[in-house]
Amino acid sequence: MLVSARSFEEYRAMFALADRDLEQRILDCPAGAASFVAGAGRRGIDAVAVDRQYAHHREELGLLVERETGFKRDLLVRETAGYASTWYTDVDDLIRQWTANAREFRADIAARPDRYVAGSLPELPFADDSFDLVLSSHLIFSYGNRFDRDFHRAALLELARVARREVRLFPLMVYDTGVRYEGLEPLCRELAGLGVSSRVERVAYEFQPGDDEMLVLSCADYRAPARTAPTVPEDRVRWRHREAVLPGA
Ligand SMILES: C[S@@+](CC[C@H](N)C(=O)[O-])C[C@H]1O[C@@H](n2cnc3c(N)ncnc32)[C@H](O)[C@@H]1O
Repeated sequence: MLVSARSFEEYRAMFALADRDLEQRILDCPAGAASFVAGAGRRGIDAVAVDRQYAHHREELGLLVERETGFKRDLLVRETAGYASTWYTDVDDLIRQWTANAREFRADIAARPDRYVAGSLPELPFADDSFDLVLSSHLIFSYGNRFDRDFHRAALLELARVARREVRLFPLMVYDTGVRYEGLEPLCRELAGLGVSSRVERVAYEFQPGDDEMLVLSCADYRAPARTAPTVPEDRVRWRHREAVLPGA
């Protein structure tokens, strides 16, 4: 699992956020070292970040992501061969942007720690309908080869529980196959039966080729049942730059 650091402007494109969307109370889940909440704060937007990594690292997470992203350059070059991203010109541009965004994240989590909450899907530490809009990027569907269908179902319902109006998810493609998450349609049908309707929308943003769709869940009619004990899947982050043996060491 990679901890990434996308920016406010990248989120705007990825989730097709209009000015009126940004007038709402927003949750970024999982936020990683993204600077969306920092950028929102500077613009007077009411936004909160949640990520399971905040239980282990807080200000330090930005620094770890900066170092890790640079350390993984060769891997990123291999993994993104053939990509024609609408956002990054090449891997070095991605590293430059994520480094700058992780720095912004680090400054904001130090200045406004209450905006960064440790929490794990599929059970978030928020009451029902705590946010108007929930944004979720690069975990659900994206890691579809690693997390099973039960996790996806439970995570989507949990996001719908804390969202009063809408959840937007990007991407719909499993990152290491380049194919849309195959359980998407049956999951959406099941959610519809529980009062969460959904639609797929095209956005003017692409990370992988053909990867330009988000899923929008409408949550106003969803009433979450009483909670049961959560099962949290393992997603250990390995900070490979810390494991590397330095020459002469
Ligand atoms: C690839 S990053 C995406 C971060 C951010 N949304 C972005 O686009 O830059 C994935 C994040 O998911 C977090 N994560 C993994 N499993 C999680 C879970 N069950 N609950 C909450 N966060 C989780 C990781 O800690 C990591 O920060």
